[in-house]
Amino acid sequence: MKISDAVFYHLVDFIHDNYGINLSKKRILVEGRLSSAASAAGYDDLDEYVESVLLYDQQDAVTTMVNRLTTNHTFFMREPDHFEFMKRVFLPYIEKNVRDHDLRIWSAACSSGAEPYSMAMVIDEYFGERKKEWDTTILATDIDTDALRSGKRAVYTPDMLNTCPQNYVDEYFEPLPDGTYKVIDRIRDQVVFRRFNLMDKITYKKPFDLICCRNVMIYFDTETKDALVERFYECTKPGGFLFVGHAENVSRSTRYNYVKPAVFRK
Ligand SMILES: C[S@@+](CC[C@H](N)C(=O)[O-])C[C@H]1O[C@@H](n2cnc3c(N)ncnc32)[C@H](O)[C@@H]1O
Repeated sequence: MKISDAVFYHLVDFIHDNYGINLSKKRILVEGRLSSAASAAGYDDLDEYVESVLLYDQQDAVTTMVNRLTTNHTFFMREPDHFEFMKRVFLPYIEKNVRDHDLRIWSAACSSGAEPYSMAMVIDEYFGERKKEWDTTILATDIDTDALRSGKRAVYTPDMLNTCPQNYVDEYFEPLPDGTYKVIDRIRDQVVFRRFNLMDKITYKKPFDLICCRNVMIYFDTETKDALVERFYECTKPGGFLFVGHAENVSRSTRYNYVKPAVFRK
């Protein structure tokens, strides 16, 4: 199905204003992803479907459309430098300095959960028996409710584990009869999934030791990205870290200090 210029730009503005995502150069992707949503909703005209979702602004219909438009590609131990950094620098620093043993980590665009579960595995390996003395729960948020549902389910196809070291696969996954892999309960229990739109005001009980926001800011324009990084800064503990994707850049004017590629510190 094809979308007209007028409806396409109406949609582009709506998604940018509400979710920060810039779809202006993604017309083919929009047509491809929304055609099946339109058919499923009983429309054979894409313009009519999009206009009705935008006009009536009904939460369920908007959520379905946004779920279709997000790009959720993710896999275990993606960008392994961050996990090495956690093991070698971040967790030793935490163990030495966090007196109340409440480790605060936020995976801020977690998709279907590979990122927060990878972090939970690294934490489990690092602390071993000592983990009992810590609260190591990870907050994992995304706007896509389908991705969050998959994250809670914690069942993955083998291709998502390709980059996961074999000892992690053996230790932290249970192979299922259909060839998929389920994250074991000990790790699953460490991650709490919530819907959160990164454009919204961040409210938090305690500031974070680590905010991990990888491979989502590439979809945002510079202004949106810079404003988000500043909001992250406000809720990072002094001495705490921000991870971004290795393909993403953070403005030189940020108040975070540069540590190494894709790692920043307050
Ligand atoms: C490519 S995935 C990245 C997943 C993971 N961080 C990684 O690096 O593998 C990008 C995720 O960002 C989410 N996203 C996009 N815009 C968002 C927003 N405004 N608020 C929260 N999540 C958003 C998408 O739903 C998608 O799941």
